[in-house]
Amino acid sequence: MLNKFVTLSFIASLSIFLAACDKSDIEEAKKVTVSNEVKQVTSTNTSNTQRRWYSTAQVLRGKKVFKDNCAVCHGERAQGLVKDWQKPLPDGKYPAPPLNGTAHAWHHSKDLLLRTVNNGGIALGGTMPPFKDKLTQAEKEAVIAYVSSLWPDNIYDTWAKRNPPK
Ligand code: HEC
Repeated sequence: MLNKFVTLSFIASLSIFLAACDKSDIEEAKKVTVSNEVKQVTSTNTSNTQRRWYSTAQVLRGKKVFKDNCAVCHGERAQGLVKDWQKPLPDGKYPAPPLNGTAHAWHHSKDLLLRTVNNGGIALGGTMPPFKDKLTQAEKEAVIAYVSSLWPDNIYDTWAKRNPPK
Protein backbone atom coordinates (compact mmCIF):
# COMPACT_ATOMS: atom_id res chain seq x y z
CA MET A 1 0.00 0.00 0.00
CA LEU A 2 2.72 2.40 1.02
CA ASN A 3 4.65 1.41 -2.06
CA LYS A 4 1.71 2.08 -4.23
CA PHE A 5 1.30 5.52 -2.64
CA VAL A 6 4.95 6.34 -3.21
CA THR A 7 4.69 5.23 -6.83
CA LEU A 8 1.57 7.28 -7.35
CA SER A 9 3.04 10.42 -5.86
CA PHE A 10 6.16 9.86 -7.89
CA ILE A 11 4.08 9.68 -11.06
CA ALA A 12 2.17 12.76 -9.94
CA SER A 13 5.32 14.80 -9.41
CA LEU A 14 6.79 13.49 -12.64
CA SER A 15 3.78 14.69 -14.59
CA ILE A 16 3.95 18.07 -12.87
CA PHE A 17 7.57 18.21 -13.92
CA LEU A 18 6.72 17.25 -17.49
CA ALA A 19 3.91 19.78 -17.58
CA ALA A 20 6.42 22.42 -16.47
CA CYS A 21 8.71 21.39 -19.30
CA ASP A 22 5.92 21.75 -21.80
CA LYS A 23 5.11 25.16 -20.47
CA SER A 24 8.69 26.38 -20.71
CA ASP A 25 8.90 24.99 -24.24
CA ILE A 26 5.87 27.04 -25.15
CA GLU A 27 7.37 30.11 -23.47
CA GLU A 28 10.56 29.50 -25.42
CA ALA A 29 8.66 29.20 -28.70
CA LYS A 30 6.83 32.43 -27.91
CA LYS A 31 10.12 34.19 -27.25
CA VAL A 32 11.53 32.98 -30.55
CA THR A 33 8.42 34.19 -32.35
CA VAL A 34 8.66 37.59 -30.70
CA SER A 35 12.32 37.92 -31.58
CA ASN A 36 11.54 36.92 -35.17
CA GLU A 37 8.98 39.68 -35.30
CA VAL A 38 11.53 42.13 -33.92
CA LYS A 39 13.92 40.99 -36.61
CA GLN A 40 11.50 41.47 -39.45
CA VAL A 41 10.14 44.80 -38.36
CA THR A 42 13.52 46.32 -37.70
CA SER A 43 15.89 44.76 -40.22
CA THR A 44 17.01 48.21 -41.37
CA ASN A 45 15.23 50.68 -39.23
CA THR A 46 16.20 54.20 -40.17
CA SER A 47 12.87 55.75 -39.25
CA ASN A 48 13.85 56.42 -35.66
CA THR A 49 17.10 58.30 -36.13
CA GLN A 50 15.67 61.66 -35.05
CA ARG A 51 15.41 60.57 -31.46
CA ARG A 52 18.54 58.42 -31.42
CA TRP A 53 22.24 59.22 -31.25
CA TYR A 54 23.08 58.20 -34.82
CA SER A 55 22.18 59.37 -38.30
CA THR A 56 20.53 57.44 -41.10
CA ALA A 57 23.81 57.55 -43.01
CA GLN A 58 25.57 55.86 -40.11
CA VAL A 59 23.00 53.06 -39.97
CA LEU A 60 23.33 52.40 -43.69
CA ARG A 61 27.10 52.46 -43.55
CA GLY A 62 27.08 50.30 -40.43
CA LYS A 63 24.85 47.76 -42.09
CA LYS A 64 27.51 47.16 -44.71
CA VAL A 65 30.33 47.09 -42.15
CA PHE A 66 28.30 44.56 -40.17
CA LYS A 67 27.61 42.38 -43.19
CA ASP A 68 31.29 42.32 -44.16
CA ASN A 69 32.77 41.80 -40.68
CA CYS A 70 30.29 40.57 -38.11
CA ALA A 71 27.43 38.69 -39.78
CA VAL A 72 29.47 35.52 -40.22
CA CYS A 73 29.29 34.98 -36.44
CA HIS A 74 26.42 37.15 -35.22
CA GLY A 75 24.00 36.43 -38.08
CA GLU A 76 22.96 38.56 -41.04
CA ARG A 77 20.63 40.71 -38.91
CA ALA A 78 22.52 40.33 -35.64
CA GLN A 79 19.98 37.73 -34.56
CA GLY A 80 22.64 35.17 -33.55
CA LEU A 81 23.15 31.79 -35.18
CA VAL A 82 22.40 29.43 -32.31
CA LYS A 83 19.20 28.57 -30.50
CA ASP A 84 20.58 29.37 -27.06
CA TRP A 85 23.38 31.93 -26.92
CA GLN A 86 23.80 31.32 -23.18
CA LYS A 87 24.78 27.69 -23.67
CA PRO A 88 28.49 26.97 -24.17
CA LEU A 89 29.52 25.19 -27.36
CA PRO A 90 31.11 21.72 -27.20
CA ASP A 91 34.55 23.38 -26.89
CA GLY A 92 33.39 25.26 -23.78
CA LYS A 93 33.41 28.66 -25.54
CA TYR A 94 30.29 30.77 -25.83
CA PRO A 95 28.67 31.36 -29.22
CA ALA A 96 28.33 34.85 -30.67
CA PRO A 97 25.22 36.30 -29.02
CA PRO A 98 22.45 38.14 -30.85
CA LEU A 99 23.04 41.91 -30.83
CA ASN A 100 19.53 42.86 -31.92
CA GLY A 101 18.13 43.67 -28.49
CA THR A 102 17.02 40.13 -27.59
CA ALA A 103 20.19 39.24 -25.66
CA HIS A 104 22.59 41.20 -23.51
CA ALA A 105 24.48 43.67 -25.71
CA TRP A 106 22.01 46.48 -25.01
CA HIS A 107 23.01 46.38 -21.33
CA HIS A 108 26.35 47.91 -22.29
CA SER A 109 27.17 51.57 -22.78
CA LYS A 110 28.25 52.76 -26.20
CA ASP A 111 31.81 53.06 -24.89
CA LEU A 112 31.82 49.46 -23.76
CA LEU A 113 30.36 48.28 -27.07
CA LEU A 114 33.13 50.18 -28.85
CA ARG A 115 35.69 48.60 -26.57
CA THR A 116 34.35 45.13 -27.42
CA VAL A 117 34.60 45.90 -31.12
CA ASN A 118 38.15 47.17 -30.63
CA ASN A 119 39.46 44.41 -28.41
CA GLY A 120 37.24 41.43 -29.19
CA GLY A 121 36.95 38.71 -26.57
CA ILE A 122 40.00 36.53 -27.07
CA ALA A 123 41.98 38.20 -24.27
CA LEU A 124 39.05 37.43 -21.94
CA GLY A 125 38.88 33.76 -22.92
CA GLY A 126 36.32 34.29 -25.69
CA THR A 127 36.62 33.95 -29.45
CA MET A 128 35.68 37.30 -30.96
CA PRO A 129 38.62 38.81 -32.87
CA PRO A 130 39.68 42.45 -32.27
CA PHE A 131 38.76 45.05 -34.89
CA LYS A 132 40.98 47.81 -33.52
CA ASP A 133 43.14 47.97 -36.65
CA LYS A 134 40.64 46.54 -39.10
CA LEU A 135 38.00 49.26 -39.00
CA THR A 136 38.23 53.04 -38.89
CA GLN A 137 36.71 54.92 -35.96
CA ALA A 138 33.84 56.02 -38.22
CA GLU A 139 33.19 52.41 -39.25
CA LYS A 140 33.15 51.28 -35.61
CA GLU A 141 30.68 54.03 -34.69
CA ALA A 142 28.59 53.11 -37.73
CA VAL A 143 28.46 49.42 -36.88
CA ILE A 144 27.26 50.26 -33.37
CA ALA A 145 24.70 52.61 -34.90
CA TYR A 146 23.44 49.74 -37.05
CA VAL A 147 23.28 47.32 -34.12
CA SER A 148 21.38 49.79 -31.95
CA SER A 149 19.04 50.64 -34.82
CA LEU A 150 17.75 47.06 -34.46
CA TRP A 151 16.64 47.65 -30.90
CA PRO A 152 12.95 48.41 -30.41
CA ASP A 153 12.17 51.80 -28.83
CA ASN A 154 11.52 50.44 -25.34
CA ILE A 155 14.93 48.75 -25.25
CA TYR A 156 16.69 51.74 -26.77
CA ASP A 157 15.07 54.13 -24.29
CA THR A 158 16.04 52.00 -21.29
CA TRP A 159 19.58 51.80 -22.63
CA ALA A 160 19.81 55.53 -23.34
CA LYS A 161 18.53 56.37 -19.86
CA ARG A 162 21.11 54.13 -18.23
CA ASN A 163 24.04 55.22 -20.36
CA PRO A 164 23.34 58.47 -22.16
CA PRO A 165 25.20 57.98 -25.46
CA LYS A 166 27.83 60.58 -26.32
C1 HEC B 1 34.59 35.03 -35.24
C2 HEC B 1 33.25 35.36 -34.76
C3 HEC B 1 32.91 36.80 -34.46
C4 HEC B 1 33.01 37.92 -35.28
C5 HEC B 1 33.56 37.97 -36.69
C6 HEC B 1 32.46 39.02 -34.53
N1 HEC B 1 32.06 38.60 -33.29
FE1 HEC B 1 31.24 39.75 -31.82
N2 HEC B 1 31.25 38.19 -30.56
C7 HEC B 1 31.63 36.90 -30.89
C8 HEC B 1 31.58 36.06 -29.69
C9 HEC B 1 31.90 34.59 -29.64
C10 HEC B 1 31.18 36.91 -28.64
C11 HEC B 1 31.05 36.54 -27.15
C12 HEC B 1 32.34 36.93 -26.45
C13 HEC B 1 33.52 36.15 -26.95
O1 HEC B 1 33.49 34.92 -26.96
O2 HEC B 1 34.51 36.79 -27.37
C14 HEC B 1 30.97 38.23 -29.22
C15 HEC B 1 30.53 39.34 -28.50
C16 HEC B 1 30.21 40.55 -29.06
C17 HEC B 1 29.66 41.67 -28.34
C18 HEC B 1 29.29 41.70 -26.86
C19 HEC B 1 27.86 41.23 -26.74
C20 HEC B 1 27.34 41.20 -25.34
O3 HEC B 1 26.20 40.74 -25.20
O4 HEC B 1 28.02 41.59 -24.40
C21 HEC B 1 29.50 42.69 -29.24
C22 HEC B 1 28.91 44.07 -28.98
C23 HEC B 1 29.97 42.20 -30.51
N3 HEC B 1 30.40 40.90 -30.38
C24 HEC B 1 29.96 42.95 -31.68
C25 HEC B 1 30.57 42.54 -32.85
C26 HEC B 1 30.72 43.38 -34.02
C27 HEC B 1 30.14 44.77 -34.14
C28 HEC B 1 31.41 42.64 -34.94
C29 HEC B 1 31.89 43.09 -36.30
C30 HEC B 1 32.67 44.33 -36.35
C31 HEC B 1 31.68 41.34 -34.37
N4 HEC B 1 31.15 41.31 -33.10
C32 HEC B 1 32.35 40.31 -35.01
C33 HEC B 1 32.02 36.45 -32.12
C34 HEC B 1 32.30 37.26 -33.21
